[in-house]
Amino acid sequence: MDRAERWRRDLDAWAIPDEIIAAAPENPWGHLVSRFGRRTDTALAQPAGPTLDRARESMPAANARFPGSVLDVGAGTGAASLPLRPTELIAVDESAAMLAELSQRAAALEVPVRAIEGRWPDVAGDVPVADVAVCAHVVFNVPDLVEFFTALTAHARRRVVVELPERHPTSWLNPLWEHFHGLRRPTTPTADDAAAIARELGYGVNVERHLAPEPRYSSIEEMAASACRRLCLDPARAGEVAQAARDLGVWPPDRTRWVTMWWDVPA
Ligand SMILES: C[S@@+](CC[C@H](N)C(=O)[O-])C[C@H]1O[C@@H](n2cnc3c(N)ncnc32)[C@H](O)[C@@H]1O
Repeated sequence: MDRAERWRRDLDAWAIPDEIIAAAPENPWGHLVSRFGRRTDTALAQPAGPTLDRARESMPAANARFPGSVLDVGAGTGAASLPLRPTELIAVDESAAMLAELSQRAAALEVPVRAIEGRWPDVAGDVPVADVAVCAHVVFNVPDLVEFFTALTAHARRRVVVELPERHPTSWLNPLWEHFHGLRRPTTPTADDAAAIARELGYGVNVERHLAPEPRYSSIEEMAASACRRLCLDPARAGEVAQAARDLGVWPPDRTRWVTMWWDVPA
């Protein structure tokens, strides 16, 4: 089996069994816009770190403002792109609510934004090419990485910068899945697999490892509410989840390990 096929198969293994999903009070895979808004505000207050730096250095004479256009795929509220303050931001996301939050912040920063609602790469045909393409915390949601990376690279004039956690973003819940559902969760794929797939596409992939700039949750209550949703448990069980998280060493959390990978696009 080739790497791309193994990536798809490994991601499939993260599916939640039908009988657990059927009893879920809420969508366990959803993203809270407010949480990502906070993440963007932190990045705007401290606009540094490998992902922003690798994007910035790809343009000559980048100072406070990025002197070119940025395409942000799976932009969320803009944490990986708005701090660059580009001359144009093209933001693609399947969530209208995320794009609305991003557009509000862009207006306050006077960053011209073109928001495109839809799934990448399905909407790629409607998206203009930018100087730099960034994509943060999306690829563990993407079964066909070859198609995804190929479209991303075709939409960047200079560089592609991808940020992702070292492991699946819900890996921290694995001990809790076993505790509450007796379910052993997967440990693959990893960021190294994504980098290997990009290398097989012929890209000169560079990799930098770093720690997330802030803890995933600011309080045990916030973590337990989120864990209930992701574990398909009634929110009334948050106290029980918090206790199990303490007992199993899930709380307090380690700072998540992230990877920034990037490749230049030949002229
Ligand atoms: C975990 S959030 C990350 C948001 C932002 N990039 C950040 O780093 O804060 C993932 C975002 O990607 C979007 N998304 C996931 N898969 C996508 C796809 N194939 N095409 C477009 N958007 C996608 C989701 O709607 C969500 O807003």
